[in-house]
Amino acid sequence: MSNNIVILGAGVSGLTTAYLLSQDPANKVTVLAKHMPGDYDIEYASPWAGANYMPVGKKGSPHQAWETATWAPLKELCEKNPDAGIHFQDTLIYNRKKDQGTAAGNWFAELVQPNPWYMNVVPDFKTLPQSELRSDMDNGQKFTSVCINTAIYLPWLIGQCVKNGAVFKREVFKHIADAANAHHTGQKADVVINCTGLSSKTLGGVLDDKLFPVRGQIVVVRNDPGEMVSVSGTDDGEDEVTYIMTRAAGGGTIIGGCCQENNSDPLPDPNLATRIMKRAIDICPKLVKPGQGIEGLDIIRHGVGLRPYRRGGPRIEKDEVDGVKIVHNYGHGGFGYQASFGCSEETVRLVKEVLQSKPRSKL
Ligand SMILES: Cc1cc2nc3c(=O)[nH]c(=O)nc-3n(C[C@H](O)[C@H](O)[C@H](O)COP(=O)(O)OP(=O)(O)OC[C@H]3O[C@@H](n4cnc5c(N)ncnc54)[C@H](O)[C@@H]3O)c2cc1C
Ligand SMILES: *[C@@H]1O[C@H](CO)[C@@H](O)[C@H](O)[C@H]1NC(C)=O
Ligand SMILES: *[C@@H]1O[C@H](CO)[C@@H](O)[C@H](O)[C@H]1NC(C)=O
Repeated sequence: MSNNIVILGAGVSGLTTAYLLSQDPANKVTVLAKHMPGDYDIEYASPWAGANYMPVGKKGSPHQAWETATWAPLKELCEKNPDAGIHFQDTLIYNRKKDQGTAAGNWFAELVQPNPWYMNVVPDFKTLPQSELRSDMDNGQKFTSVCINTAIYLPWLIGQCVKNGAVFKREVFKHIADAANAHHTGQKADVVINCTGLSSKTLGGVLDDKLFPVRGQIVVVRNDPGEMVSVSGTDDGEDEVTYIMTRAAGGGTIIGGCCQENNSDPLPDPNLATRIMKRAIDICPKLVKPGQGIEGLDIIRHGVGLRPYRRGGPRIEKDEVDGVKIVHNYGHGGFGYQASFGCSEETVRLVKEVLQSKPRSKL
């Protein structure tokens, strides 16, 4: 018996779910999306991400479980599929206690804890001795993480899905029923999976009022410091942060950033860009030649993406609208890659439950 599955959305959430589901030949998967890899648009978060694995889920939460579950598949891709565009990187995390309670500090609260839960998940975890800390840092850690070149990884996921028989089409949907009727076989879908991220008020439909954008501005440069570095906050504003990560296979280095809630401005702010670059060189002088300032950065482009946050966390649950069975998998904030496999595996479990309860054909 075959299962007709429609996935709405081709960001990292939709593509990881499609990748897992298409591995079972019984699943006939159609992926429908307004934006596909290769597009750069403010409504499409995935291409803008760094992206790396810096766990932020609260200890004991489902978020922690999703991030924990995602480490092994990312590590395996690194080791066995270099064509996926993911590599290992040394990672340094610095904490300033004074950032506690700020927007940036709240985001990084678990990441910067001494002895955090993820110390047993990532390899080579080590607490930095006081002698390796600057006087303005209260504690720090080092471990091995990964950085994903999203410009390679998203198309790689599509390639794997297509190899497994999945069909990709550009479409914009206003109504759930339309998506259910758009399966490539012409038959009605048994289940529609909603991986639409932040979606948009202009796209129509009911916007989940728990969703909100957290704006992230980045600078992409050719410089390569040879390690990833992040700090819990800055003195430039409570919703500004500093992180540096180099993408695999010539992807350039991403320098960030900010976490501006409910700001959807798609244009890079040049003053913020200057602050981002100055801070990056301050914490990671290796980014430029000795004595150089931001003029030593070789800029590829400036960018802005909106992290699809959701009050209460991502929505991964079953639903039914107008007789159409739906599984939601959206609202992954600033952690869509590092929780991608955990969230998509849970989505697949719910899809199986829906398929098990579908009316059997009489043949
Ligand atoms: C600057 C920045 C840095 C980040 N860094 C990291 C990081 O280092 N690590 C990490 O894990 N995460 C990071 N993130 C977060 C990550 O990018 C997001 O969590 C993730 O991309 C969300 O993916 P998604 O698939 O849910 O949504 P999206 O990528 O936004 O995809 C949504 C898809 O749905 C489609 N769609 C929406 N509505 C419709 C409709 N009505 N009809 C048809 N199609 C529709 C869109 O066209 C698109 O294909 C970062 C984000 C930003 C902005
Ligand atoms: C998917 O979720 C969005 C919120 O992001 C909502 O607006 C939309 O109606 C949902 N679509 C489906 C098919 O359930
Ligand atoms: C942004 O909007 C969300 C959802 O409406 C709300 O919960 C949150 O408090 C807002 N944040 C700020 C900083 O205004």
